[in-house]
Amino acid sequence: MSGYIRMNRRRKIYEGKAKILYEGPEPGTLVQHFKDDATAFNKQKHAQIEGKGVLNNRISEFIFQNLNAIGVPTHFIRRLNMREQLIREVEIIPLEVVVRNVAAGSLSKRLGMEEGVQLPRSIIEFYYKNDELGDPMVSEEHITAFGWASPQEIDDMMSLALRVNDFLVGLFLGVGIRLVDFKIELGRLYEGDMMRIVLADEISPDSCRLWDMKSGEKLDKDRFRRDMGGLVEAYQEVARRLGIMTGGEANPPRGPVLVK
Ligand SMILES: Nc1ncnc2c1ncn2[C@@H]1O[C@H](COP(=O)(O)OP(=O)(O)OP(=O)(O)O)[C@@H](O)[C@H]1O
Ligand SMILES: [Mg+2]
Repeated sequence: MSGYIRMNRRRKIYEGKAKILYEGPEPGTLVQHFKDDATAFNKQKHAQIEGKGVLNNRISEFIFQNLNAIGVPTHFIRRLNMREQLIREVEIIPLEVVVRNVAAGSLSKRLGMEEGVQLPRSIIEFYYKNDELGDPMVSEEHITAFGWASPQEIDDMMSLALRVNDFLVGLFLGVGIRLVDFKIELGRLYEGDMMRIVLADEISPDSCRLWDMKSGEKLDKDRFRRDMGGLVEAYQEVARRLGIMTGGEANPPRGPVLVK
């Protein structure tokens, strides 16, 4: 029984609210581990939700794999196990990029716009990644003045964000889900003396607002923020519709399921 401790030997690089980063098997790689922790309102609310990490790992894998396949550069290499994926290490740009298609959350509050109103076009917002400050919204002026990203990098981030949005809107539309908004993180990937901006972190129901097209039911982290319960069941439903994780081994995954 003794001697099986090699998993504990790897070096922890960073422990965040929802994930842990470990040193990867090769230089320039990391292992991203998905925990069951859920936090909201800048950590004021915290809970363990059994099964969430496994679902986010699978859903994010599915989305990043498909983005890689259509030529959107991402940090994703491959999934390693139920909770972990192998990724390329990047220099995270300290911004959260939010794309909105429908009014909800802080936009509704800020602008007094009813939740659910379709926006005239997709809107991109930037937030400065800083927990102490509660991730304040910033403009391109702040980003360039403080050197968080160059004007060229802002352009690249915006065009990547819109490509991700187009892909995700279509993907979810096909399975009866309305993509209201989502958050992404981007990073600088250095290859020799070349550098490019790639999609990093995760895309999952933790970082998206997903509403059932017919019933309007929330299938995302707002269930936790708003104490609605049924979070794991909602994430499972998203996975099921995307054709991943059927729950039992009897029905092997078959890809996205069209919902009529
Ligand atoms: N490819 C990558 N290379 C380096 N860091 C990454 C990569 N992908 C994601 N990260 C970082 O790993 C961390 C993931 O952990 P988690 O999402 O739990 O953090 P968090 O608690 O949300 O904190 P943060 O405010 O830093 O995002 C984040 O800080 C994220 O920016
Ligand atoms: Mg995070």
